[in-house]
Amino acid sequence: MGEIQITPSILNSDFARLGEEVARIPGADWVHVDVMDNHFVPNLTFGPAMVEALARVSPVPLDAHLMIEDADRNAPAYVEAGCGSVTFHVEAAKAPVRLAREIRSAGARASMALKPATPVEPYEDLLAELDMLLIMTVEPGFGGQRFLDLCLPKIRRARALMDKHGVETWLQVDGGVSLETIERCAEAGADVFVAGSAVYSADDPDAMVAALRARAEEARG
Ligand code: DX5
Ligand code: ZN
Repeated sequence: MGEIQITPSILNSDFARLGEEVARIPGADWVHVDVMDNHFVPNLTFGPAMVEALARVSPVPLDAHLMIEDADRNAPAYVEAGCGSVTFHVEAAKAPVRLAREIRSAGARASMALKPATPVEPYEDLLAELDMLLIMTVEPGFGGQRFLDLCLPKIRRARALMDKHGVETWLQVDGGVSLETIERCAEAGADVFVAGSAVYSADDPDAMVAALRARAEEARG
């Protein structure tokens, strides 16, 4: 298992001041950027040009989470835009192995996401191709949703598969992660934690990043 990392999502930050919003979380490991196309999910956010502008000013590297159709064709633009990590959804990729290799060879960390109803077992042999696996803990599309406890067994099974294969793949969770739910995720084996509303609804977002990290580290023991 890797070190605990906290990756705040800017989905619930002030879109008119994104540069200032990322400057409020200097203690974060990554900034999680939720790209939505109004097709894969019923919501619409940023494209590569905005992500590139944000990458230029962000003190923390960008972790793009692409909730977009035709990931095979659209994902490479986010590596070019300057993201250090690019996550595509397996449900939106026709050739996930080829895409992961393309992302890696273009110079970013390659990551693959699973929606709550998508099982991890069919992808056991792909884990070595991935720098990170994202297990969604809400249905993707919106911030501020309730954490789905039904995803915890899948996090445990994913961690067991990673241990079995001895891979260094990080295990990220995204959706409803807060001071209340982060311990369950850490105990189940997650090591990278996205938190959107929990961080940006706090008076001091960077202090919340530190508090989340401390709680996850405690849970790991
Ligand atoms: C949901 C996004 C999440 C979202 C998390 O589709 O992928 O990254 O911003 O927000 P919270 O932490 O509020 O659930
Ligand atoms: Zn996300």
